[in-house]
Amino acid sequence: MSNKYQVPRGTQDIMGDDVSLWRQVESIIREQCARYGYQEIRTPIFEHTEVFKFQNDSSDMVTKEMYTFLDSGERSLTLRPEGTKGVIRAFVEHKLYGNQAELPYKLFYMGPMFRYERPQKGRYRQFHQFGVEAIGAKSPLLDAETIALGYNITRAMGIKKVKILINSLGDDESRSNYRSALREHFRPYLGELCGDCQRRFELNPLRILDCKVDREHPSFKSAPSVQDYLNEPSKKYFSQVLQALDDLEIPYVIDSRLVRGLDYYTNTVFEAIPEDASGQQAAVFAGGQYDGLVEHYGGGNLPGVGFGMGIERMIDLAVQEQGLTAVGHEADVYVISMGNVGSYALKATETLRNAGFRVETDYQGRSLKAQFKASDRLKAKVIVIIGEDEYSNGQVVIKDTVSKQQVTVGFDKLLETVKGFTGE
Ligand code: HAM
Repeated sequence: MSNKYQVPRGTQDIMGDDVSLWRQVESIIREQCARYGYQEIRTPIFEHTEVFKFQNDSSDMVTKEMYTFLDSGERSLTLRPEGTKGVIRAFVEHKLYGNQAELPYKLFYMGPMFRYERPQKGRYRQFHQFGVEAIGAKSPLLDAETIALGYNITRAMGIKKVKILINSLGDDESRSNYRSALREHFRPYLGELCGDCQRRFELNPLRILDCKVDREHPSFKSAPSVQDYLNEPSKKYFSQVLQALDDLEIPYVIDSRLVRGLDYYTNTVFEAIPEDASGQQAAVFAGGQYDGLVEHYGGGNLPGVGFGMGIERMIDLAVQEQGLTAVGHEADVYVISMGNVGSYALKATETLRNAGFRVETDYQGRSLKAQFKASDRLKAKVIVIIGEDEYSNGQVVIKDTVSKQQVTVGFDKLLETVKGFTGE
């Protein structure tokens, strides 16, 4: 029986020095988003189920993996399994498409997402995604720029060993022709494919190529390639995306089997995977272009492009490649107190904190040795020592742990002296 006082399967507590990794990643993301003109949006963690669930959706995420529940008012709500749909819902709800001069509207988001998946390394039920959406413009240059942003963020985290896979699913006409070709191809093998693929055959045969169960079936190797079904405008669009990536010196590999797991993609799709990855689940960021989403929510015929990035996976890779290292909790100053000094040491502590220093002190009358140890652990550059004599004389002893210089001054000189020692 599972212990109900442990985290639910597929979730984790993020704590201790690891939190510093998350903060570093978040600050790199914010910095890069600012450079590219993306503004942050924070949408609800749950939405009406209809926001995520479309009729005839064939993706695993929507059909099998959503955390959907009825609230006490009998409304069907769903914990967001991804960021894109909620962001487009908000874009339409707030009529952000109103000012044409502001398009594309560039939004980024960060936060927990929820999918009922089989947990394993790098795959969780609650995971964190950073994502971007550039809404209201369609251009091969914008697609390339979006990929560049994802790529630059991985570089900024010190991750070098990723490769970008890219493909085009083409426009409506190309995809429709390709779907017919896939149906024709898979029809004779239908009885040998899994139940999901049999459903996918009707609903969206592109999804068959994404199947984890039937991947090794011989019919997969001989399946037609989408590249052969792209019409001229789609071919041209795709070649312009590739040209822009070449010009930006962003390395990529064309993968004509790449269809991505979600239904809304049109034209460009891409994912970044570790160079040594074998499985399909390893993507650190993935996304693509979408023509129909804004219209689905009633916002007119506006395209978009974006990607989602798994923060847990990025941190794993960055640590592995030593691009990021966890840093421990540190203090600038440690205030040691000895004997009965009332709240005098706490007052010194607070005075320094209010001036902006990170300051720790002892609350439990621990030994001098223990307090020195604590200050060492926190790498405090300056130690303030307060004993009963200092307390009664209104003084403090201040020690610079680097130069070993030590002075005794009046309380009114505390801040000034610490500033002198720390070079503030
Ligand atoms: P996605 O490919 O489903 O796309 O997810 C994007 C990224 O989220 C993945 O590449 C992976 O890094 C991370 N991820 C997904 N599921 C899990 C999981 N169970 N555990 C850990 N990490 C995970 C989307 O979600 C789209 N909304 C991306 C997008 C934005 N397309 C256009 N705009």
